[in-house]
Amino acid sequence: MNDDMSESSEYIHGSSPEEQHRLSLLNDILNESCLKELNLQPGENVLDVGSGLGQFTRLIARTVGSERQVVGIERDRDQMLQAKRLADSSGESELVEFRKGDALELPLSEPELGTFDVAHARFLLEHVPRPSLVIAQMVRSVRPGGRVFVTDDDHGNFRPWPEPQGFQALWQAYVRSYDRLGSDPYVGRRLVSLLRGAGLTSIRNSCVFFGGCAGNEVFQAVADNLIAALAGTKDAILNGELLDEESFDSGIDGLQQWKANSSAALWYSACCAEGIVPN
Ligand SMILES: C[S@@+](CC[C@H](N)C(=O)[O-])C[C@H]1O[C@@H](n2cnc3c(N)ncnc32)[C@H](O)[C@@H]1O
Repeated sequence: MNDDMSESSEYIHGSSPEEQHRLSLLNDILNESCLKELNLQPGENVLDVGSGLGQFTRLIARTVGSERQVVGIERDRDQMLQAKRLADSSGESELVEFRKGDALELPLSEPELGTFDVAHARFLLEHVPRPSLVIAQMVRSVRPGGRVFVTDDDHGNFRPWPEPQGFQALWQAYVRSYDRLGSDPYVGRRLVSLLRGAGLTSIRNSCVFFGGCAGNEVFQAVADNLIAALAGTKDAILNGELLDEESFDSGIDGLQQWKANSSAALWYSACCAEGIVPN
């Protein structure tokens, strides 16, 4: 990862080419369903915090309509540069302004504060030690009556079946690698209380299905995303002595076998919540 991490947490997945491939896959699988939940209106100004490779940020921008109404904030320089390259190669470099910055101290000018119609963050809060500080920054960026919308993981929701060999040990080690970084692998269930704690009103919640079963069009992609996310944390898990290498590799083999099973199913949903900034 190419960044100074002193002011906030480490991002467990990093920004290697393999990880960027996984993030793109995740976007392919989820973006249309997430867009529906976000329920954007034409002309809205949107701030996307932790914008990653920017695929969803550009989809947001295409949906609201006119150019430069959408700003993506990303802390990792490699992710941000790749987001700009992807936007260029799609002929969409004018669509979104990508800025480098930290969600804990959003790089917004004084006149920009309190002007966005929507502040959005997807799969960011699980990577920061104090998600309430990120929500507070998002609230400051939105106009009275505007919306803060967050989508995040809750690793307690996750159920592959039939259970892959070695999965429990691998999953527990993966979840504990979040604790080690000081972030919350179960933040999804806290989204409503985080929004309520920030003083937002008219809160609603929902979820986006992120599973599938053998024979479905998206199943291989969903399973590959899971395996890649786990495989990418091997060093963190081994260095943290959360699992030995043999058990780690056997857990990954178990998932590969599960992926080929004609009865395989993955039950998982990402958590979404929205609140309105009071007038
Ligand atoms: C799992 S990715 C999700 C990217 C994008 N939101 C999406 O859904 O495709 C999380 C992103 O948040 C970025 N990130 C992590 N901590 C951050 C922070 N404190 N401020 C800004 N970005 C951060 C990471 O570099 C990474 O690109």
